[in-house]
Amino acid sequence: MTIDIDLQKLPQHIAIIMDGNGRWARNHTLGRIMGHQKGVEAVQRTVRLCREIGIKYLTLYAFSVENWSRPDQEIKALMKILREYLRSELDEMLQNGIRLTTIGDIAALQEPVRDLLLETMDRTAKNRDMVLNLALSYGGQDEILQAVRRILKDAQDGRIDPTSISKESFASYLYTAEMPDPDLLIRTSGEYRISNFLLWQSAYTEFYFTDVLWPDFSKTDLFSAIADYQQRERRYGLTSDQLRREKIY
Ligand code: IPE
Ligand code: IPE
Ligand code: MG
Repeated sequence: MTIDIDLQKLPQHIAIIMDGNGRWARNHTLGRIMGHQKGVEAVQRTVRLCREIGIKYLTLYAFSVENWSRPDQEIKALMKILREYLRSELDEMLQNGIRLTTIGDIAALQEPVRDLLLETMDRTAKNRDMVLNLALSYGGQDEILQAVRRILKDAQDGRIDPTSISKESFASYLYTAEMPDPDLLIRTSGEYRISNFLLWQSAYTEFYFTDVLWPDFSKTDLFSAIADYQQRERRYGLTSDQLRREKIY
């Protein structure tokens, strides 16, 4: 099945809650770790496709702060999978102009993963064709709280005037300071929740939910999400008439 998408009207920033690895594994009578391993293939497919069609920012929710409460064995396996992923993808990132960035409490990650992340970010820092942004040890509420703490500190030290804080200056304290807000947020596996992802940044994001489990997420699924997004009218609180008038004049 081919789905037509308009390459002139692509979302600039796609964010994905990659959910359903565990259920995929159970459905195949495999252990959860196998589900995560299979999930990496979906990541590789999705990154490649997004780069090919010209998506500028792709944010993938890979590990939440809440995920630290999972069994130790699963966390260890996830970190190992992440390390293997970073090692295996570096060449392709360099060839395809992909810059790796992260959001989340990266300091909470164990040293080997953290070092490899820092090295990969450093080596891809000059790439300009697409940003691949991994959310690791990420929680939207924690992100907002750390911003508030830093703002209070800057105010205390006289670096900023607390009465002049705007939405824009607040956003500059978030992990996503350098990035546009996501235009399209996809969640797989049939769950209809945000799970602490990009709470501030998704104020006007278009949401797309699919029952497909992450390891099965295909080109057709990605294009379906984009095609659906392209049908929508982003009104930002205005009326349709107002938007049409703006387009004419
Ligand atoms: C998403 O798949 C991957 C991570 C959260 C790391 P899950 O592991 O949450 O899979 P389910 O939800 O149990 O199926
Ligand atoms: C969200 O999935 C986090 C990631 C995809 C990394 P979870 O599986 O952790 O979310 P809940 O627990 O179903 O809300
Ligand atoms: Mg899950």
